[in-house]
Amino acid sequence: MTDSGAKNQLWAGRSDGDVADITVRMGESISLDIQLYREDIRGSVAHARMLEGIGVLSAAERAAIEGGLRTIKAEIEAGNFPLRPELEDIHTHVENRLTELIGEAGKKLHTARSRNDQVAVDTHLFVRRASAELGAAITGLCDTLLERATQDQTREIVLPGYTHLQVAQPIRLSHHLLAHFWAFSRDINRFARAAETANDLPLGSGAMAGVNYATDREFLRRDLGFARIAPNSMDAVASRDHILDFLYACTVFMTHASRVSEELILWNSVEFAFISLPDALTTGSSIMPQKKNPDLAELTRGKTGRVQGNLVNLLTNIKSLPLTYNRDLQEDRFALLDSYAQTGMAIEALTAMMAGVVFHGERMRASLDRGFAQATDLADALVSERDVPFREAHHLVGALVRECVDAGTTLRKISAAARAGVSEYFADDEFFFRAVSLENSADKKVSYGGTGREALNQQIENAKHQRAADRAREWNAPDLEF
Ligand code: ARG
Repeated sequence: MTDSGAKNQLWAGRSDGDVADITVRMGESISLDIQLYREDIRGSVAHARMLEGIGVLSAAERAAIEGGLRTIKAEIEAGNFPLRPELEDIHTHVENRLTELIGEAGKKLHTARSRNDQVAVDTHLFVRRASAELGAAITGLCDTLLERATQDQTREIVLPGYTHLQVAQPIRLSHHLLAHFWAFSRDINRFARAAETANDLPLGSGAMAGVNYATDREFLRRDLGFARIAPNSMDAVASRDHILDFLYACTVFMTHASRVSEELILWNSVEFAFISLPDALTTGSSIMPQKKNPDLAELTRGKTGRVQGNLVNLLTNIKSLPLTYNRDLQEDRFALLDSYAQTGMAIEALTAMMAGVVFHGERMRASLDRGFAQATDLADALVSERDVPFREAHHLVGALVRECVDAGTTLRKISAAARAGVSEYFADDEFFFRAVSLENSADKKVSYGGTGREALNQQIENAKHQRAADRAREWNAPDLEF
């Protein structure tokens, strides 16, 4: 066992303060939770104010503490705050530095408080802030999607809609973009729900049983802008479901993002050639000069596994964990901070790609033509205009498609003679070409929520209302200034 040579005198307590190297290396969380410095400092400010209120600190001591905390915040922001792994975490770093700066008053700050309720309040504040930030960023992504979906071009482009990645039915591009819009719009709700779970104030719970001081938790609640006070001190220091809800929101967003990314990757291929991505959002190959790789879409797809893993990581950590605080919980920081960072980048990348992508309408249309996407419409026309029973119509159109495939042609190009050879119903040009028109096919989807022009216009109106509601949402992100 090698001694780290460093002492943590701050909470040496019954031990002599010597810490083994492995205890330092394995035990530190400062390399991650330095990112919670604003939350940690703001929580301490509230605690000091509360202690003054109940007479534990004098006004002068409280003022000295607040001034010291302000200095520490400035030092961290100036990159002038050395991290010392033997001091383990952000809480200890701040308290240690505070005492260096202001002396005796600094030593009083930890009265009626434990790092267990401190770390809980830090992550609650962080989840509230991060949910507001990512929720607002997804709102921006939805703005971009709606903007693209309302352009004349995307309303006019008709492209293949797929099932089983086989051409299914013609759809308007605007409709396709809006399909993603609605999924992302629900993701905003999921972040709002995570923020809501994090709206219980854990501070004041002490190590786990409460504290021997008549603390004013209502004051803390108001000062830190929480909706409620956590009603049970044990639950308050042991639970991490505010983080789980946040990780779940990140995971579902990323899952949606991975589906859009997969489409961008496919559509950007030479085989599809439905889109071009802006040069600035792609990369070249070090060996193959022709390459323009959709890396941001691929990375988003890849990071989805990572973010999903973070959710499973914390779920597994918490499973069967006895009440209350256990050191295992320190591992929550990795999942929380990593998913926050990765999801934030994915939102930014996707917004940039959706804003800059160029759509190739002719290519989309050509692909549609080759895929017999109007086959169902032709069968429906036989039913409605020629009174053919649907099963028989299905059969006749199937035979015609087979004919086209054998001749290497499309429904709109097959010769009149070949058509008539399959069925005399198909000999009538006027009837036939109306039935296999791609635009007509899309516009026949008149049902609410369908791709037909009128239904689409209605959907765009609905999307605009949703947009207004999302933009007006009150996030109640905590105010970390003091
Ligand atoms: N560094 C710890 C964490 O991040 C702080 C709480 C430590 N509590 C304790 N009883 N050792 O979770």
